Amino acid sequence: MTKPKISRLALLSALSALTLAAPINAQSVLGSGVPASTVPNSAERPIAFAEQAPADAGLIILMQSAELPDISALSPAERSAVEAAIASADFKGKTGSTLELRGIGGHPLIMLAGASKPDDQGPDWKSAAGKAVQKLKTEDTELTLVGPPDAAGMAEAALGLDLGQYRFDRYQTDVETAPASQKVTLSGPQASAAQTLWNSRHKHLADSVKLTRDLQSEPANTLYPQSFVDRVSAAFKGVPNVRIEILDEAAMRKMNMGAIVGVGQGSPRGSRMMVVRYTGGSGAPLALAGKGITFDTGGISIKPNKGMWAMKADMSGAAAVMGATLSLAKSRAPVNIVAVAALAENMPGANAQRPGDVVRTYGGKTIEILSTDAEGRLVLADAVQYVADRYKPFALVDIATLTGSVGRAVGDQYAGLFAREDAIADRLMKAAKDSGEHLWRLPLHPAYAKAIRSDIADVKNSGVTDAPGASAGAHFIGYFVDESMPWAHLDIAGVDWNNSAKPLTPKGASGFGVRLLDQLARDWTAE
Ligand code: BES
Ligand code: MN
Ligand code: ZN
Repeated sequence: MTKPKISRLALLSALSALTLAAPINAQSVLGSGVPASTVPNSAERPIAFAEQAPADAGLIILMQSAELPDISALSPAERSAVEAAIASADFKGKTGSTLELRGIGGHPLIMLAGASKPDDQGPDWKSAAGKAVQKLKTEDTELTLVGPPDAAGMAEAALGLDLGQYRFDRYQTDVETAPASQKVTLSGPQASAAQTLWNSRHKHLADSVKLTRDLQSEPANTLYPQSFVDRVSAAFKGVPNVRIEILDEAAMRKMNMGAIVGVGQGSPRGSRMMVVRYTGGSGAPLALAGKGITFDTGGISIKPNKGMWAMKADMSGAAAVMGATLSLAKSRAPVNIVAVAALAENMPGANAQRPGDVVRTYGGKTIEILSTDAEGRLVLADAVQYVADRYKPFALVDIATLTGSVGRAVGDQYAGLFAREDAIADRLMKAAKDSGEHLWRLPLHPAYAKAIRSDIADVKNSGVTDAPGASAGAHFIGYFVDESMPWAHLDIAGVDWNNSAKPLTPKGASGFGVRLLDQLARDWTAE
């Protein structure tokens, strides 16, 4: 046997491959390497259902009007005392209102929470329960909730409770301020049907919204493209009918995804594309694409410092599509979904892309970068082309914290909805109404498309024009979506983060889009 001969050239190329794979100065630790916390968020109040309420718990009564519902938790004497209090406080049972009573009978406290809406949409059990549990955040006692007369209402109330009691406190080491963690029992004659509903659907929705909020809240030193992938993969672990595909930078480069790789090239934390496929039905999937900028400094077109910290949540769209898909998969909804998270960190740096650079995208179209701060549309350009080409969806919805402009236009109660066709816009408007995550349709007028015309490439990513900023952004993404594809764009830059508490969303990350997209997917495939 002769010794295999290794040519000098082969040896050299083997060596250089080795060098490429592990450069001498490779940083094995990014950042300080000291984890900010090793504990999860503090324990929440567990949720239970029972026909009979525990006697010595604090009592929450959800009210559809000023009239006390017919409940067994109050003795006749307690009932008259509560009725007297309602009359003297002129409590009407309106959504958002509460009345806290103490010293009545054997109850450590009785809280009345209004569920009635001004229109005839039916009672808002979710908001009433969310508001009550927030008010009782530090109440050191077990709670019983009564009021909703049927299983559906009870499950809704449980969802409201669970969303309302969310906290992100894993970095607070002062345990004295930890919220109460005694259980809440929802009580009523249909408790066991409510429990079944909760276990099969609402609980998964609540858990998925909480995952999304956790991802949004995590600071960018802990949440970057690969750690987003790791955490979402862990959440899907063991969930049936799910397949996950991860593209790293090398894979994306091979496929000419110059836009997403360009955005991340100023950061040592590599960009990723995460694709989660859930197959619960038959036929083509619904595609959901989310902007996943784990931090947006603006890049070389750097942002001013004021409020820049909030750009840790610039991956809210990606977190929302993963949350919605997790909810659908865990509750085994009969739908097909392909969700894609376009993940990158937008940093300035010696290798960062510059204004004026031209990049090539997955499908071959080119982009002139006018502002490195208009990066969300860049990562989505590659994501929407890839998902449409590879997975042949029947429709595509993208969701992104894309522009400050949308918040100035519609404030913090609506996300902006853009669509070329009324049919898909109508579906989204209906899902918005049913889920309680509100949308307002904004214009995608053809005249605004001139905002993205470039002198030297196919399109440019920003520029001074008369077009509204949010519409220009929508047009840009739409340029990469085939005209024949039903497509909608959701700009959530005004709603991803709450500056003050709402009944279903404590101050901070909102998880916006999870309930909306979960609803949309169920409605669309159910026909
Ligand atoms: N992530 C921002 C948009 C944003 C602003 C989200 C405020 C949440 C709160 C986005 O990447 C951005 O910088 N957009 C620019 C676009 C402009 C450069 C065309 C904007 O809105 O100013
Ligand atoms: Mn930006
Ligand atoms: Zn951004």
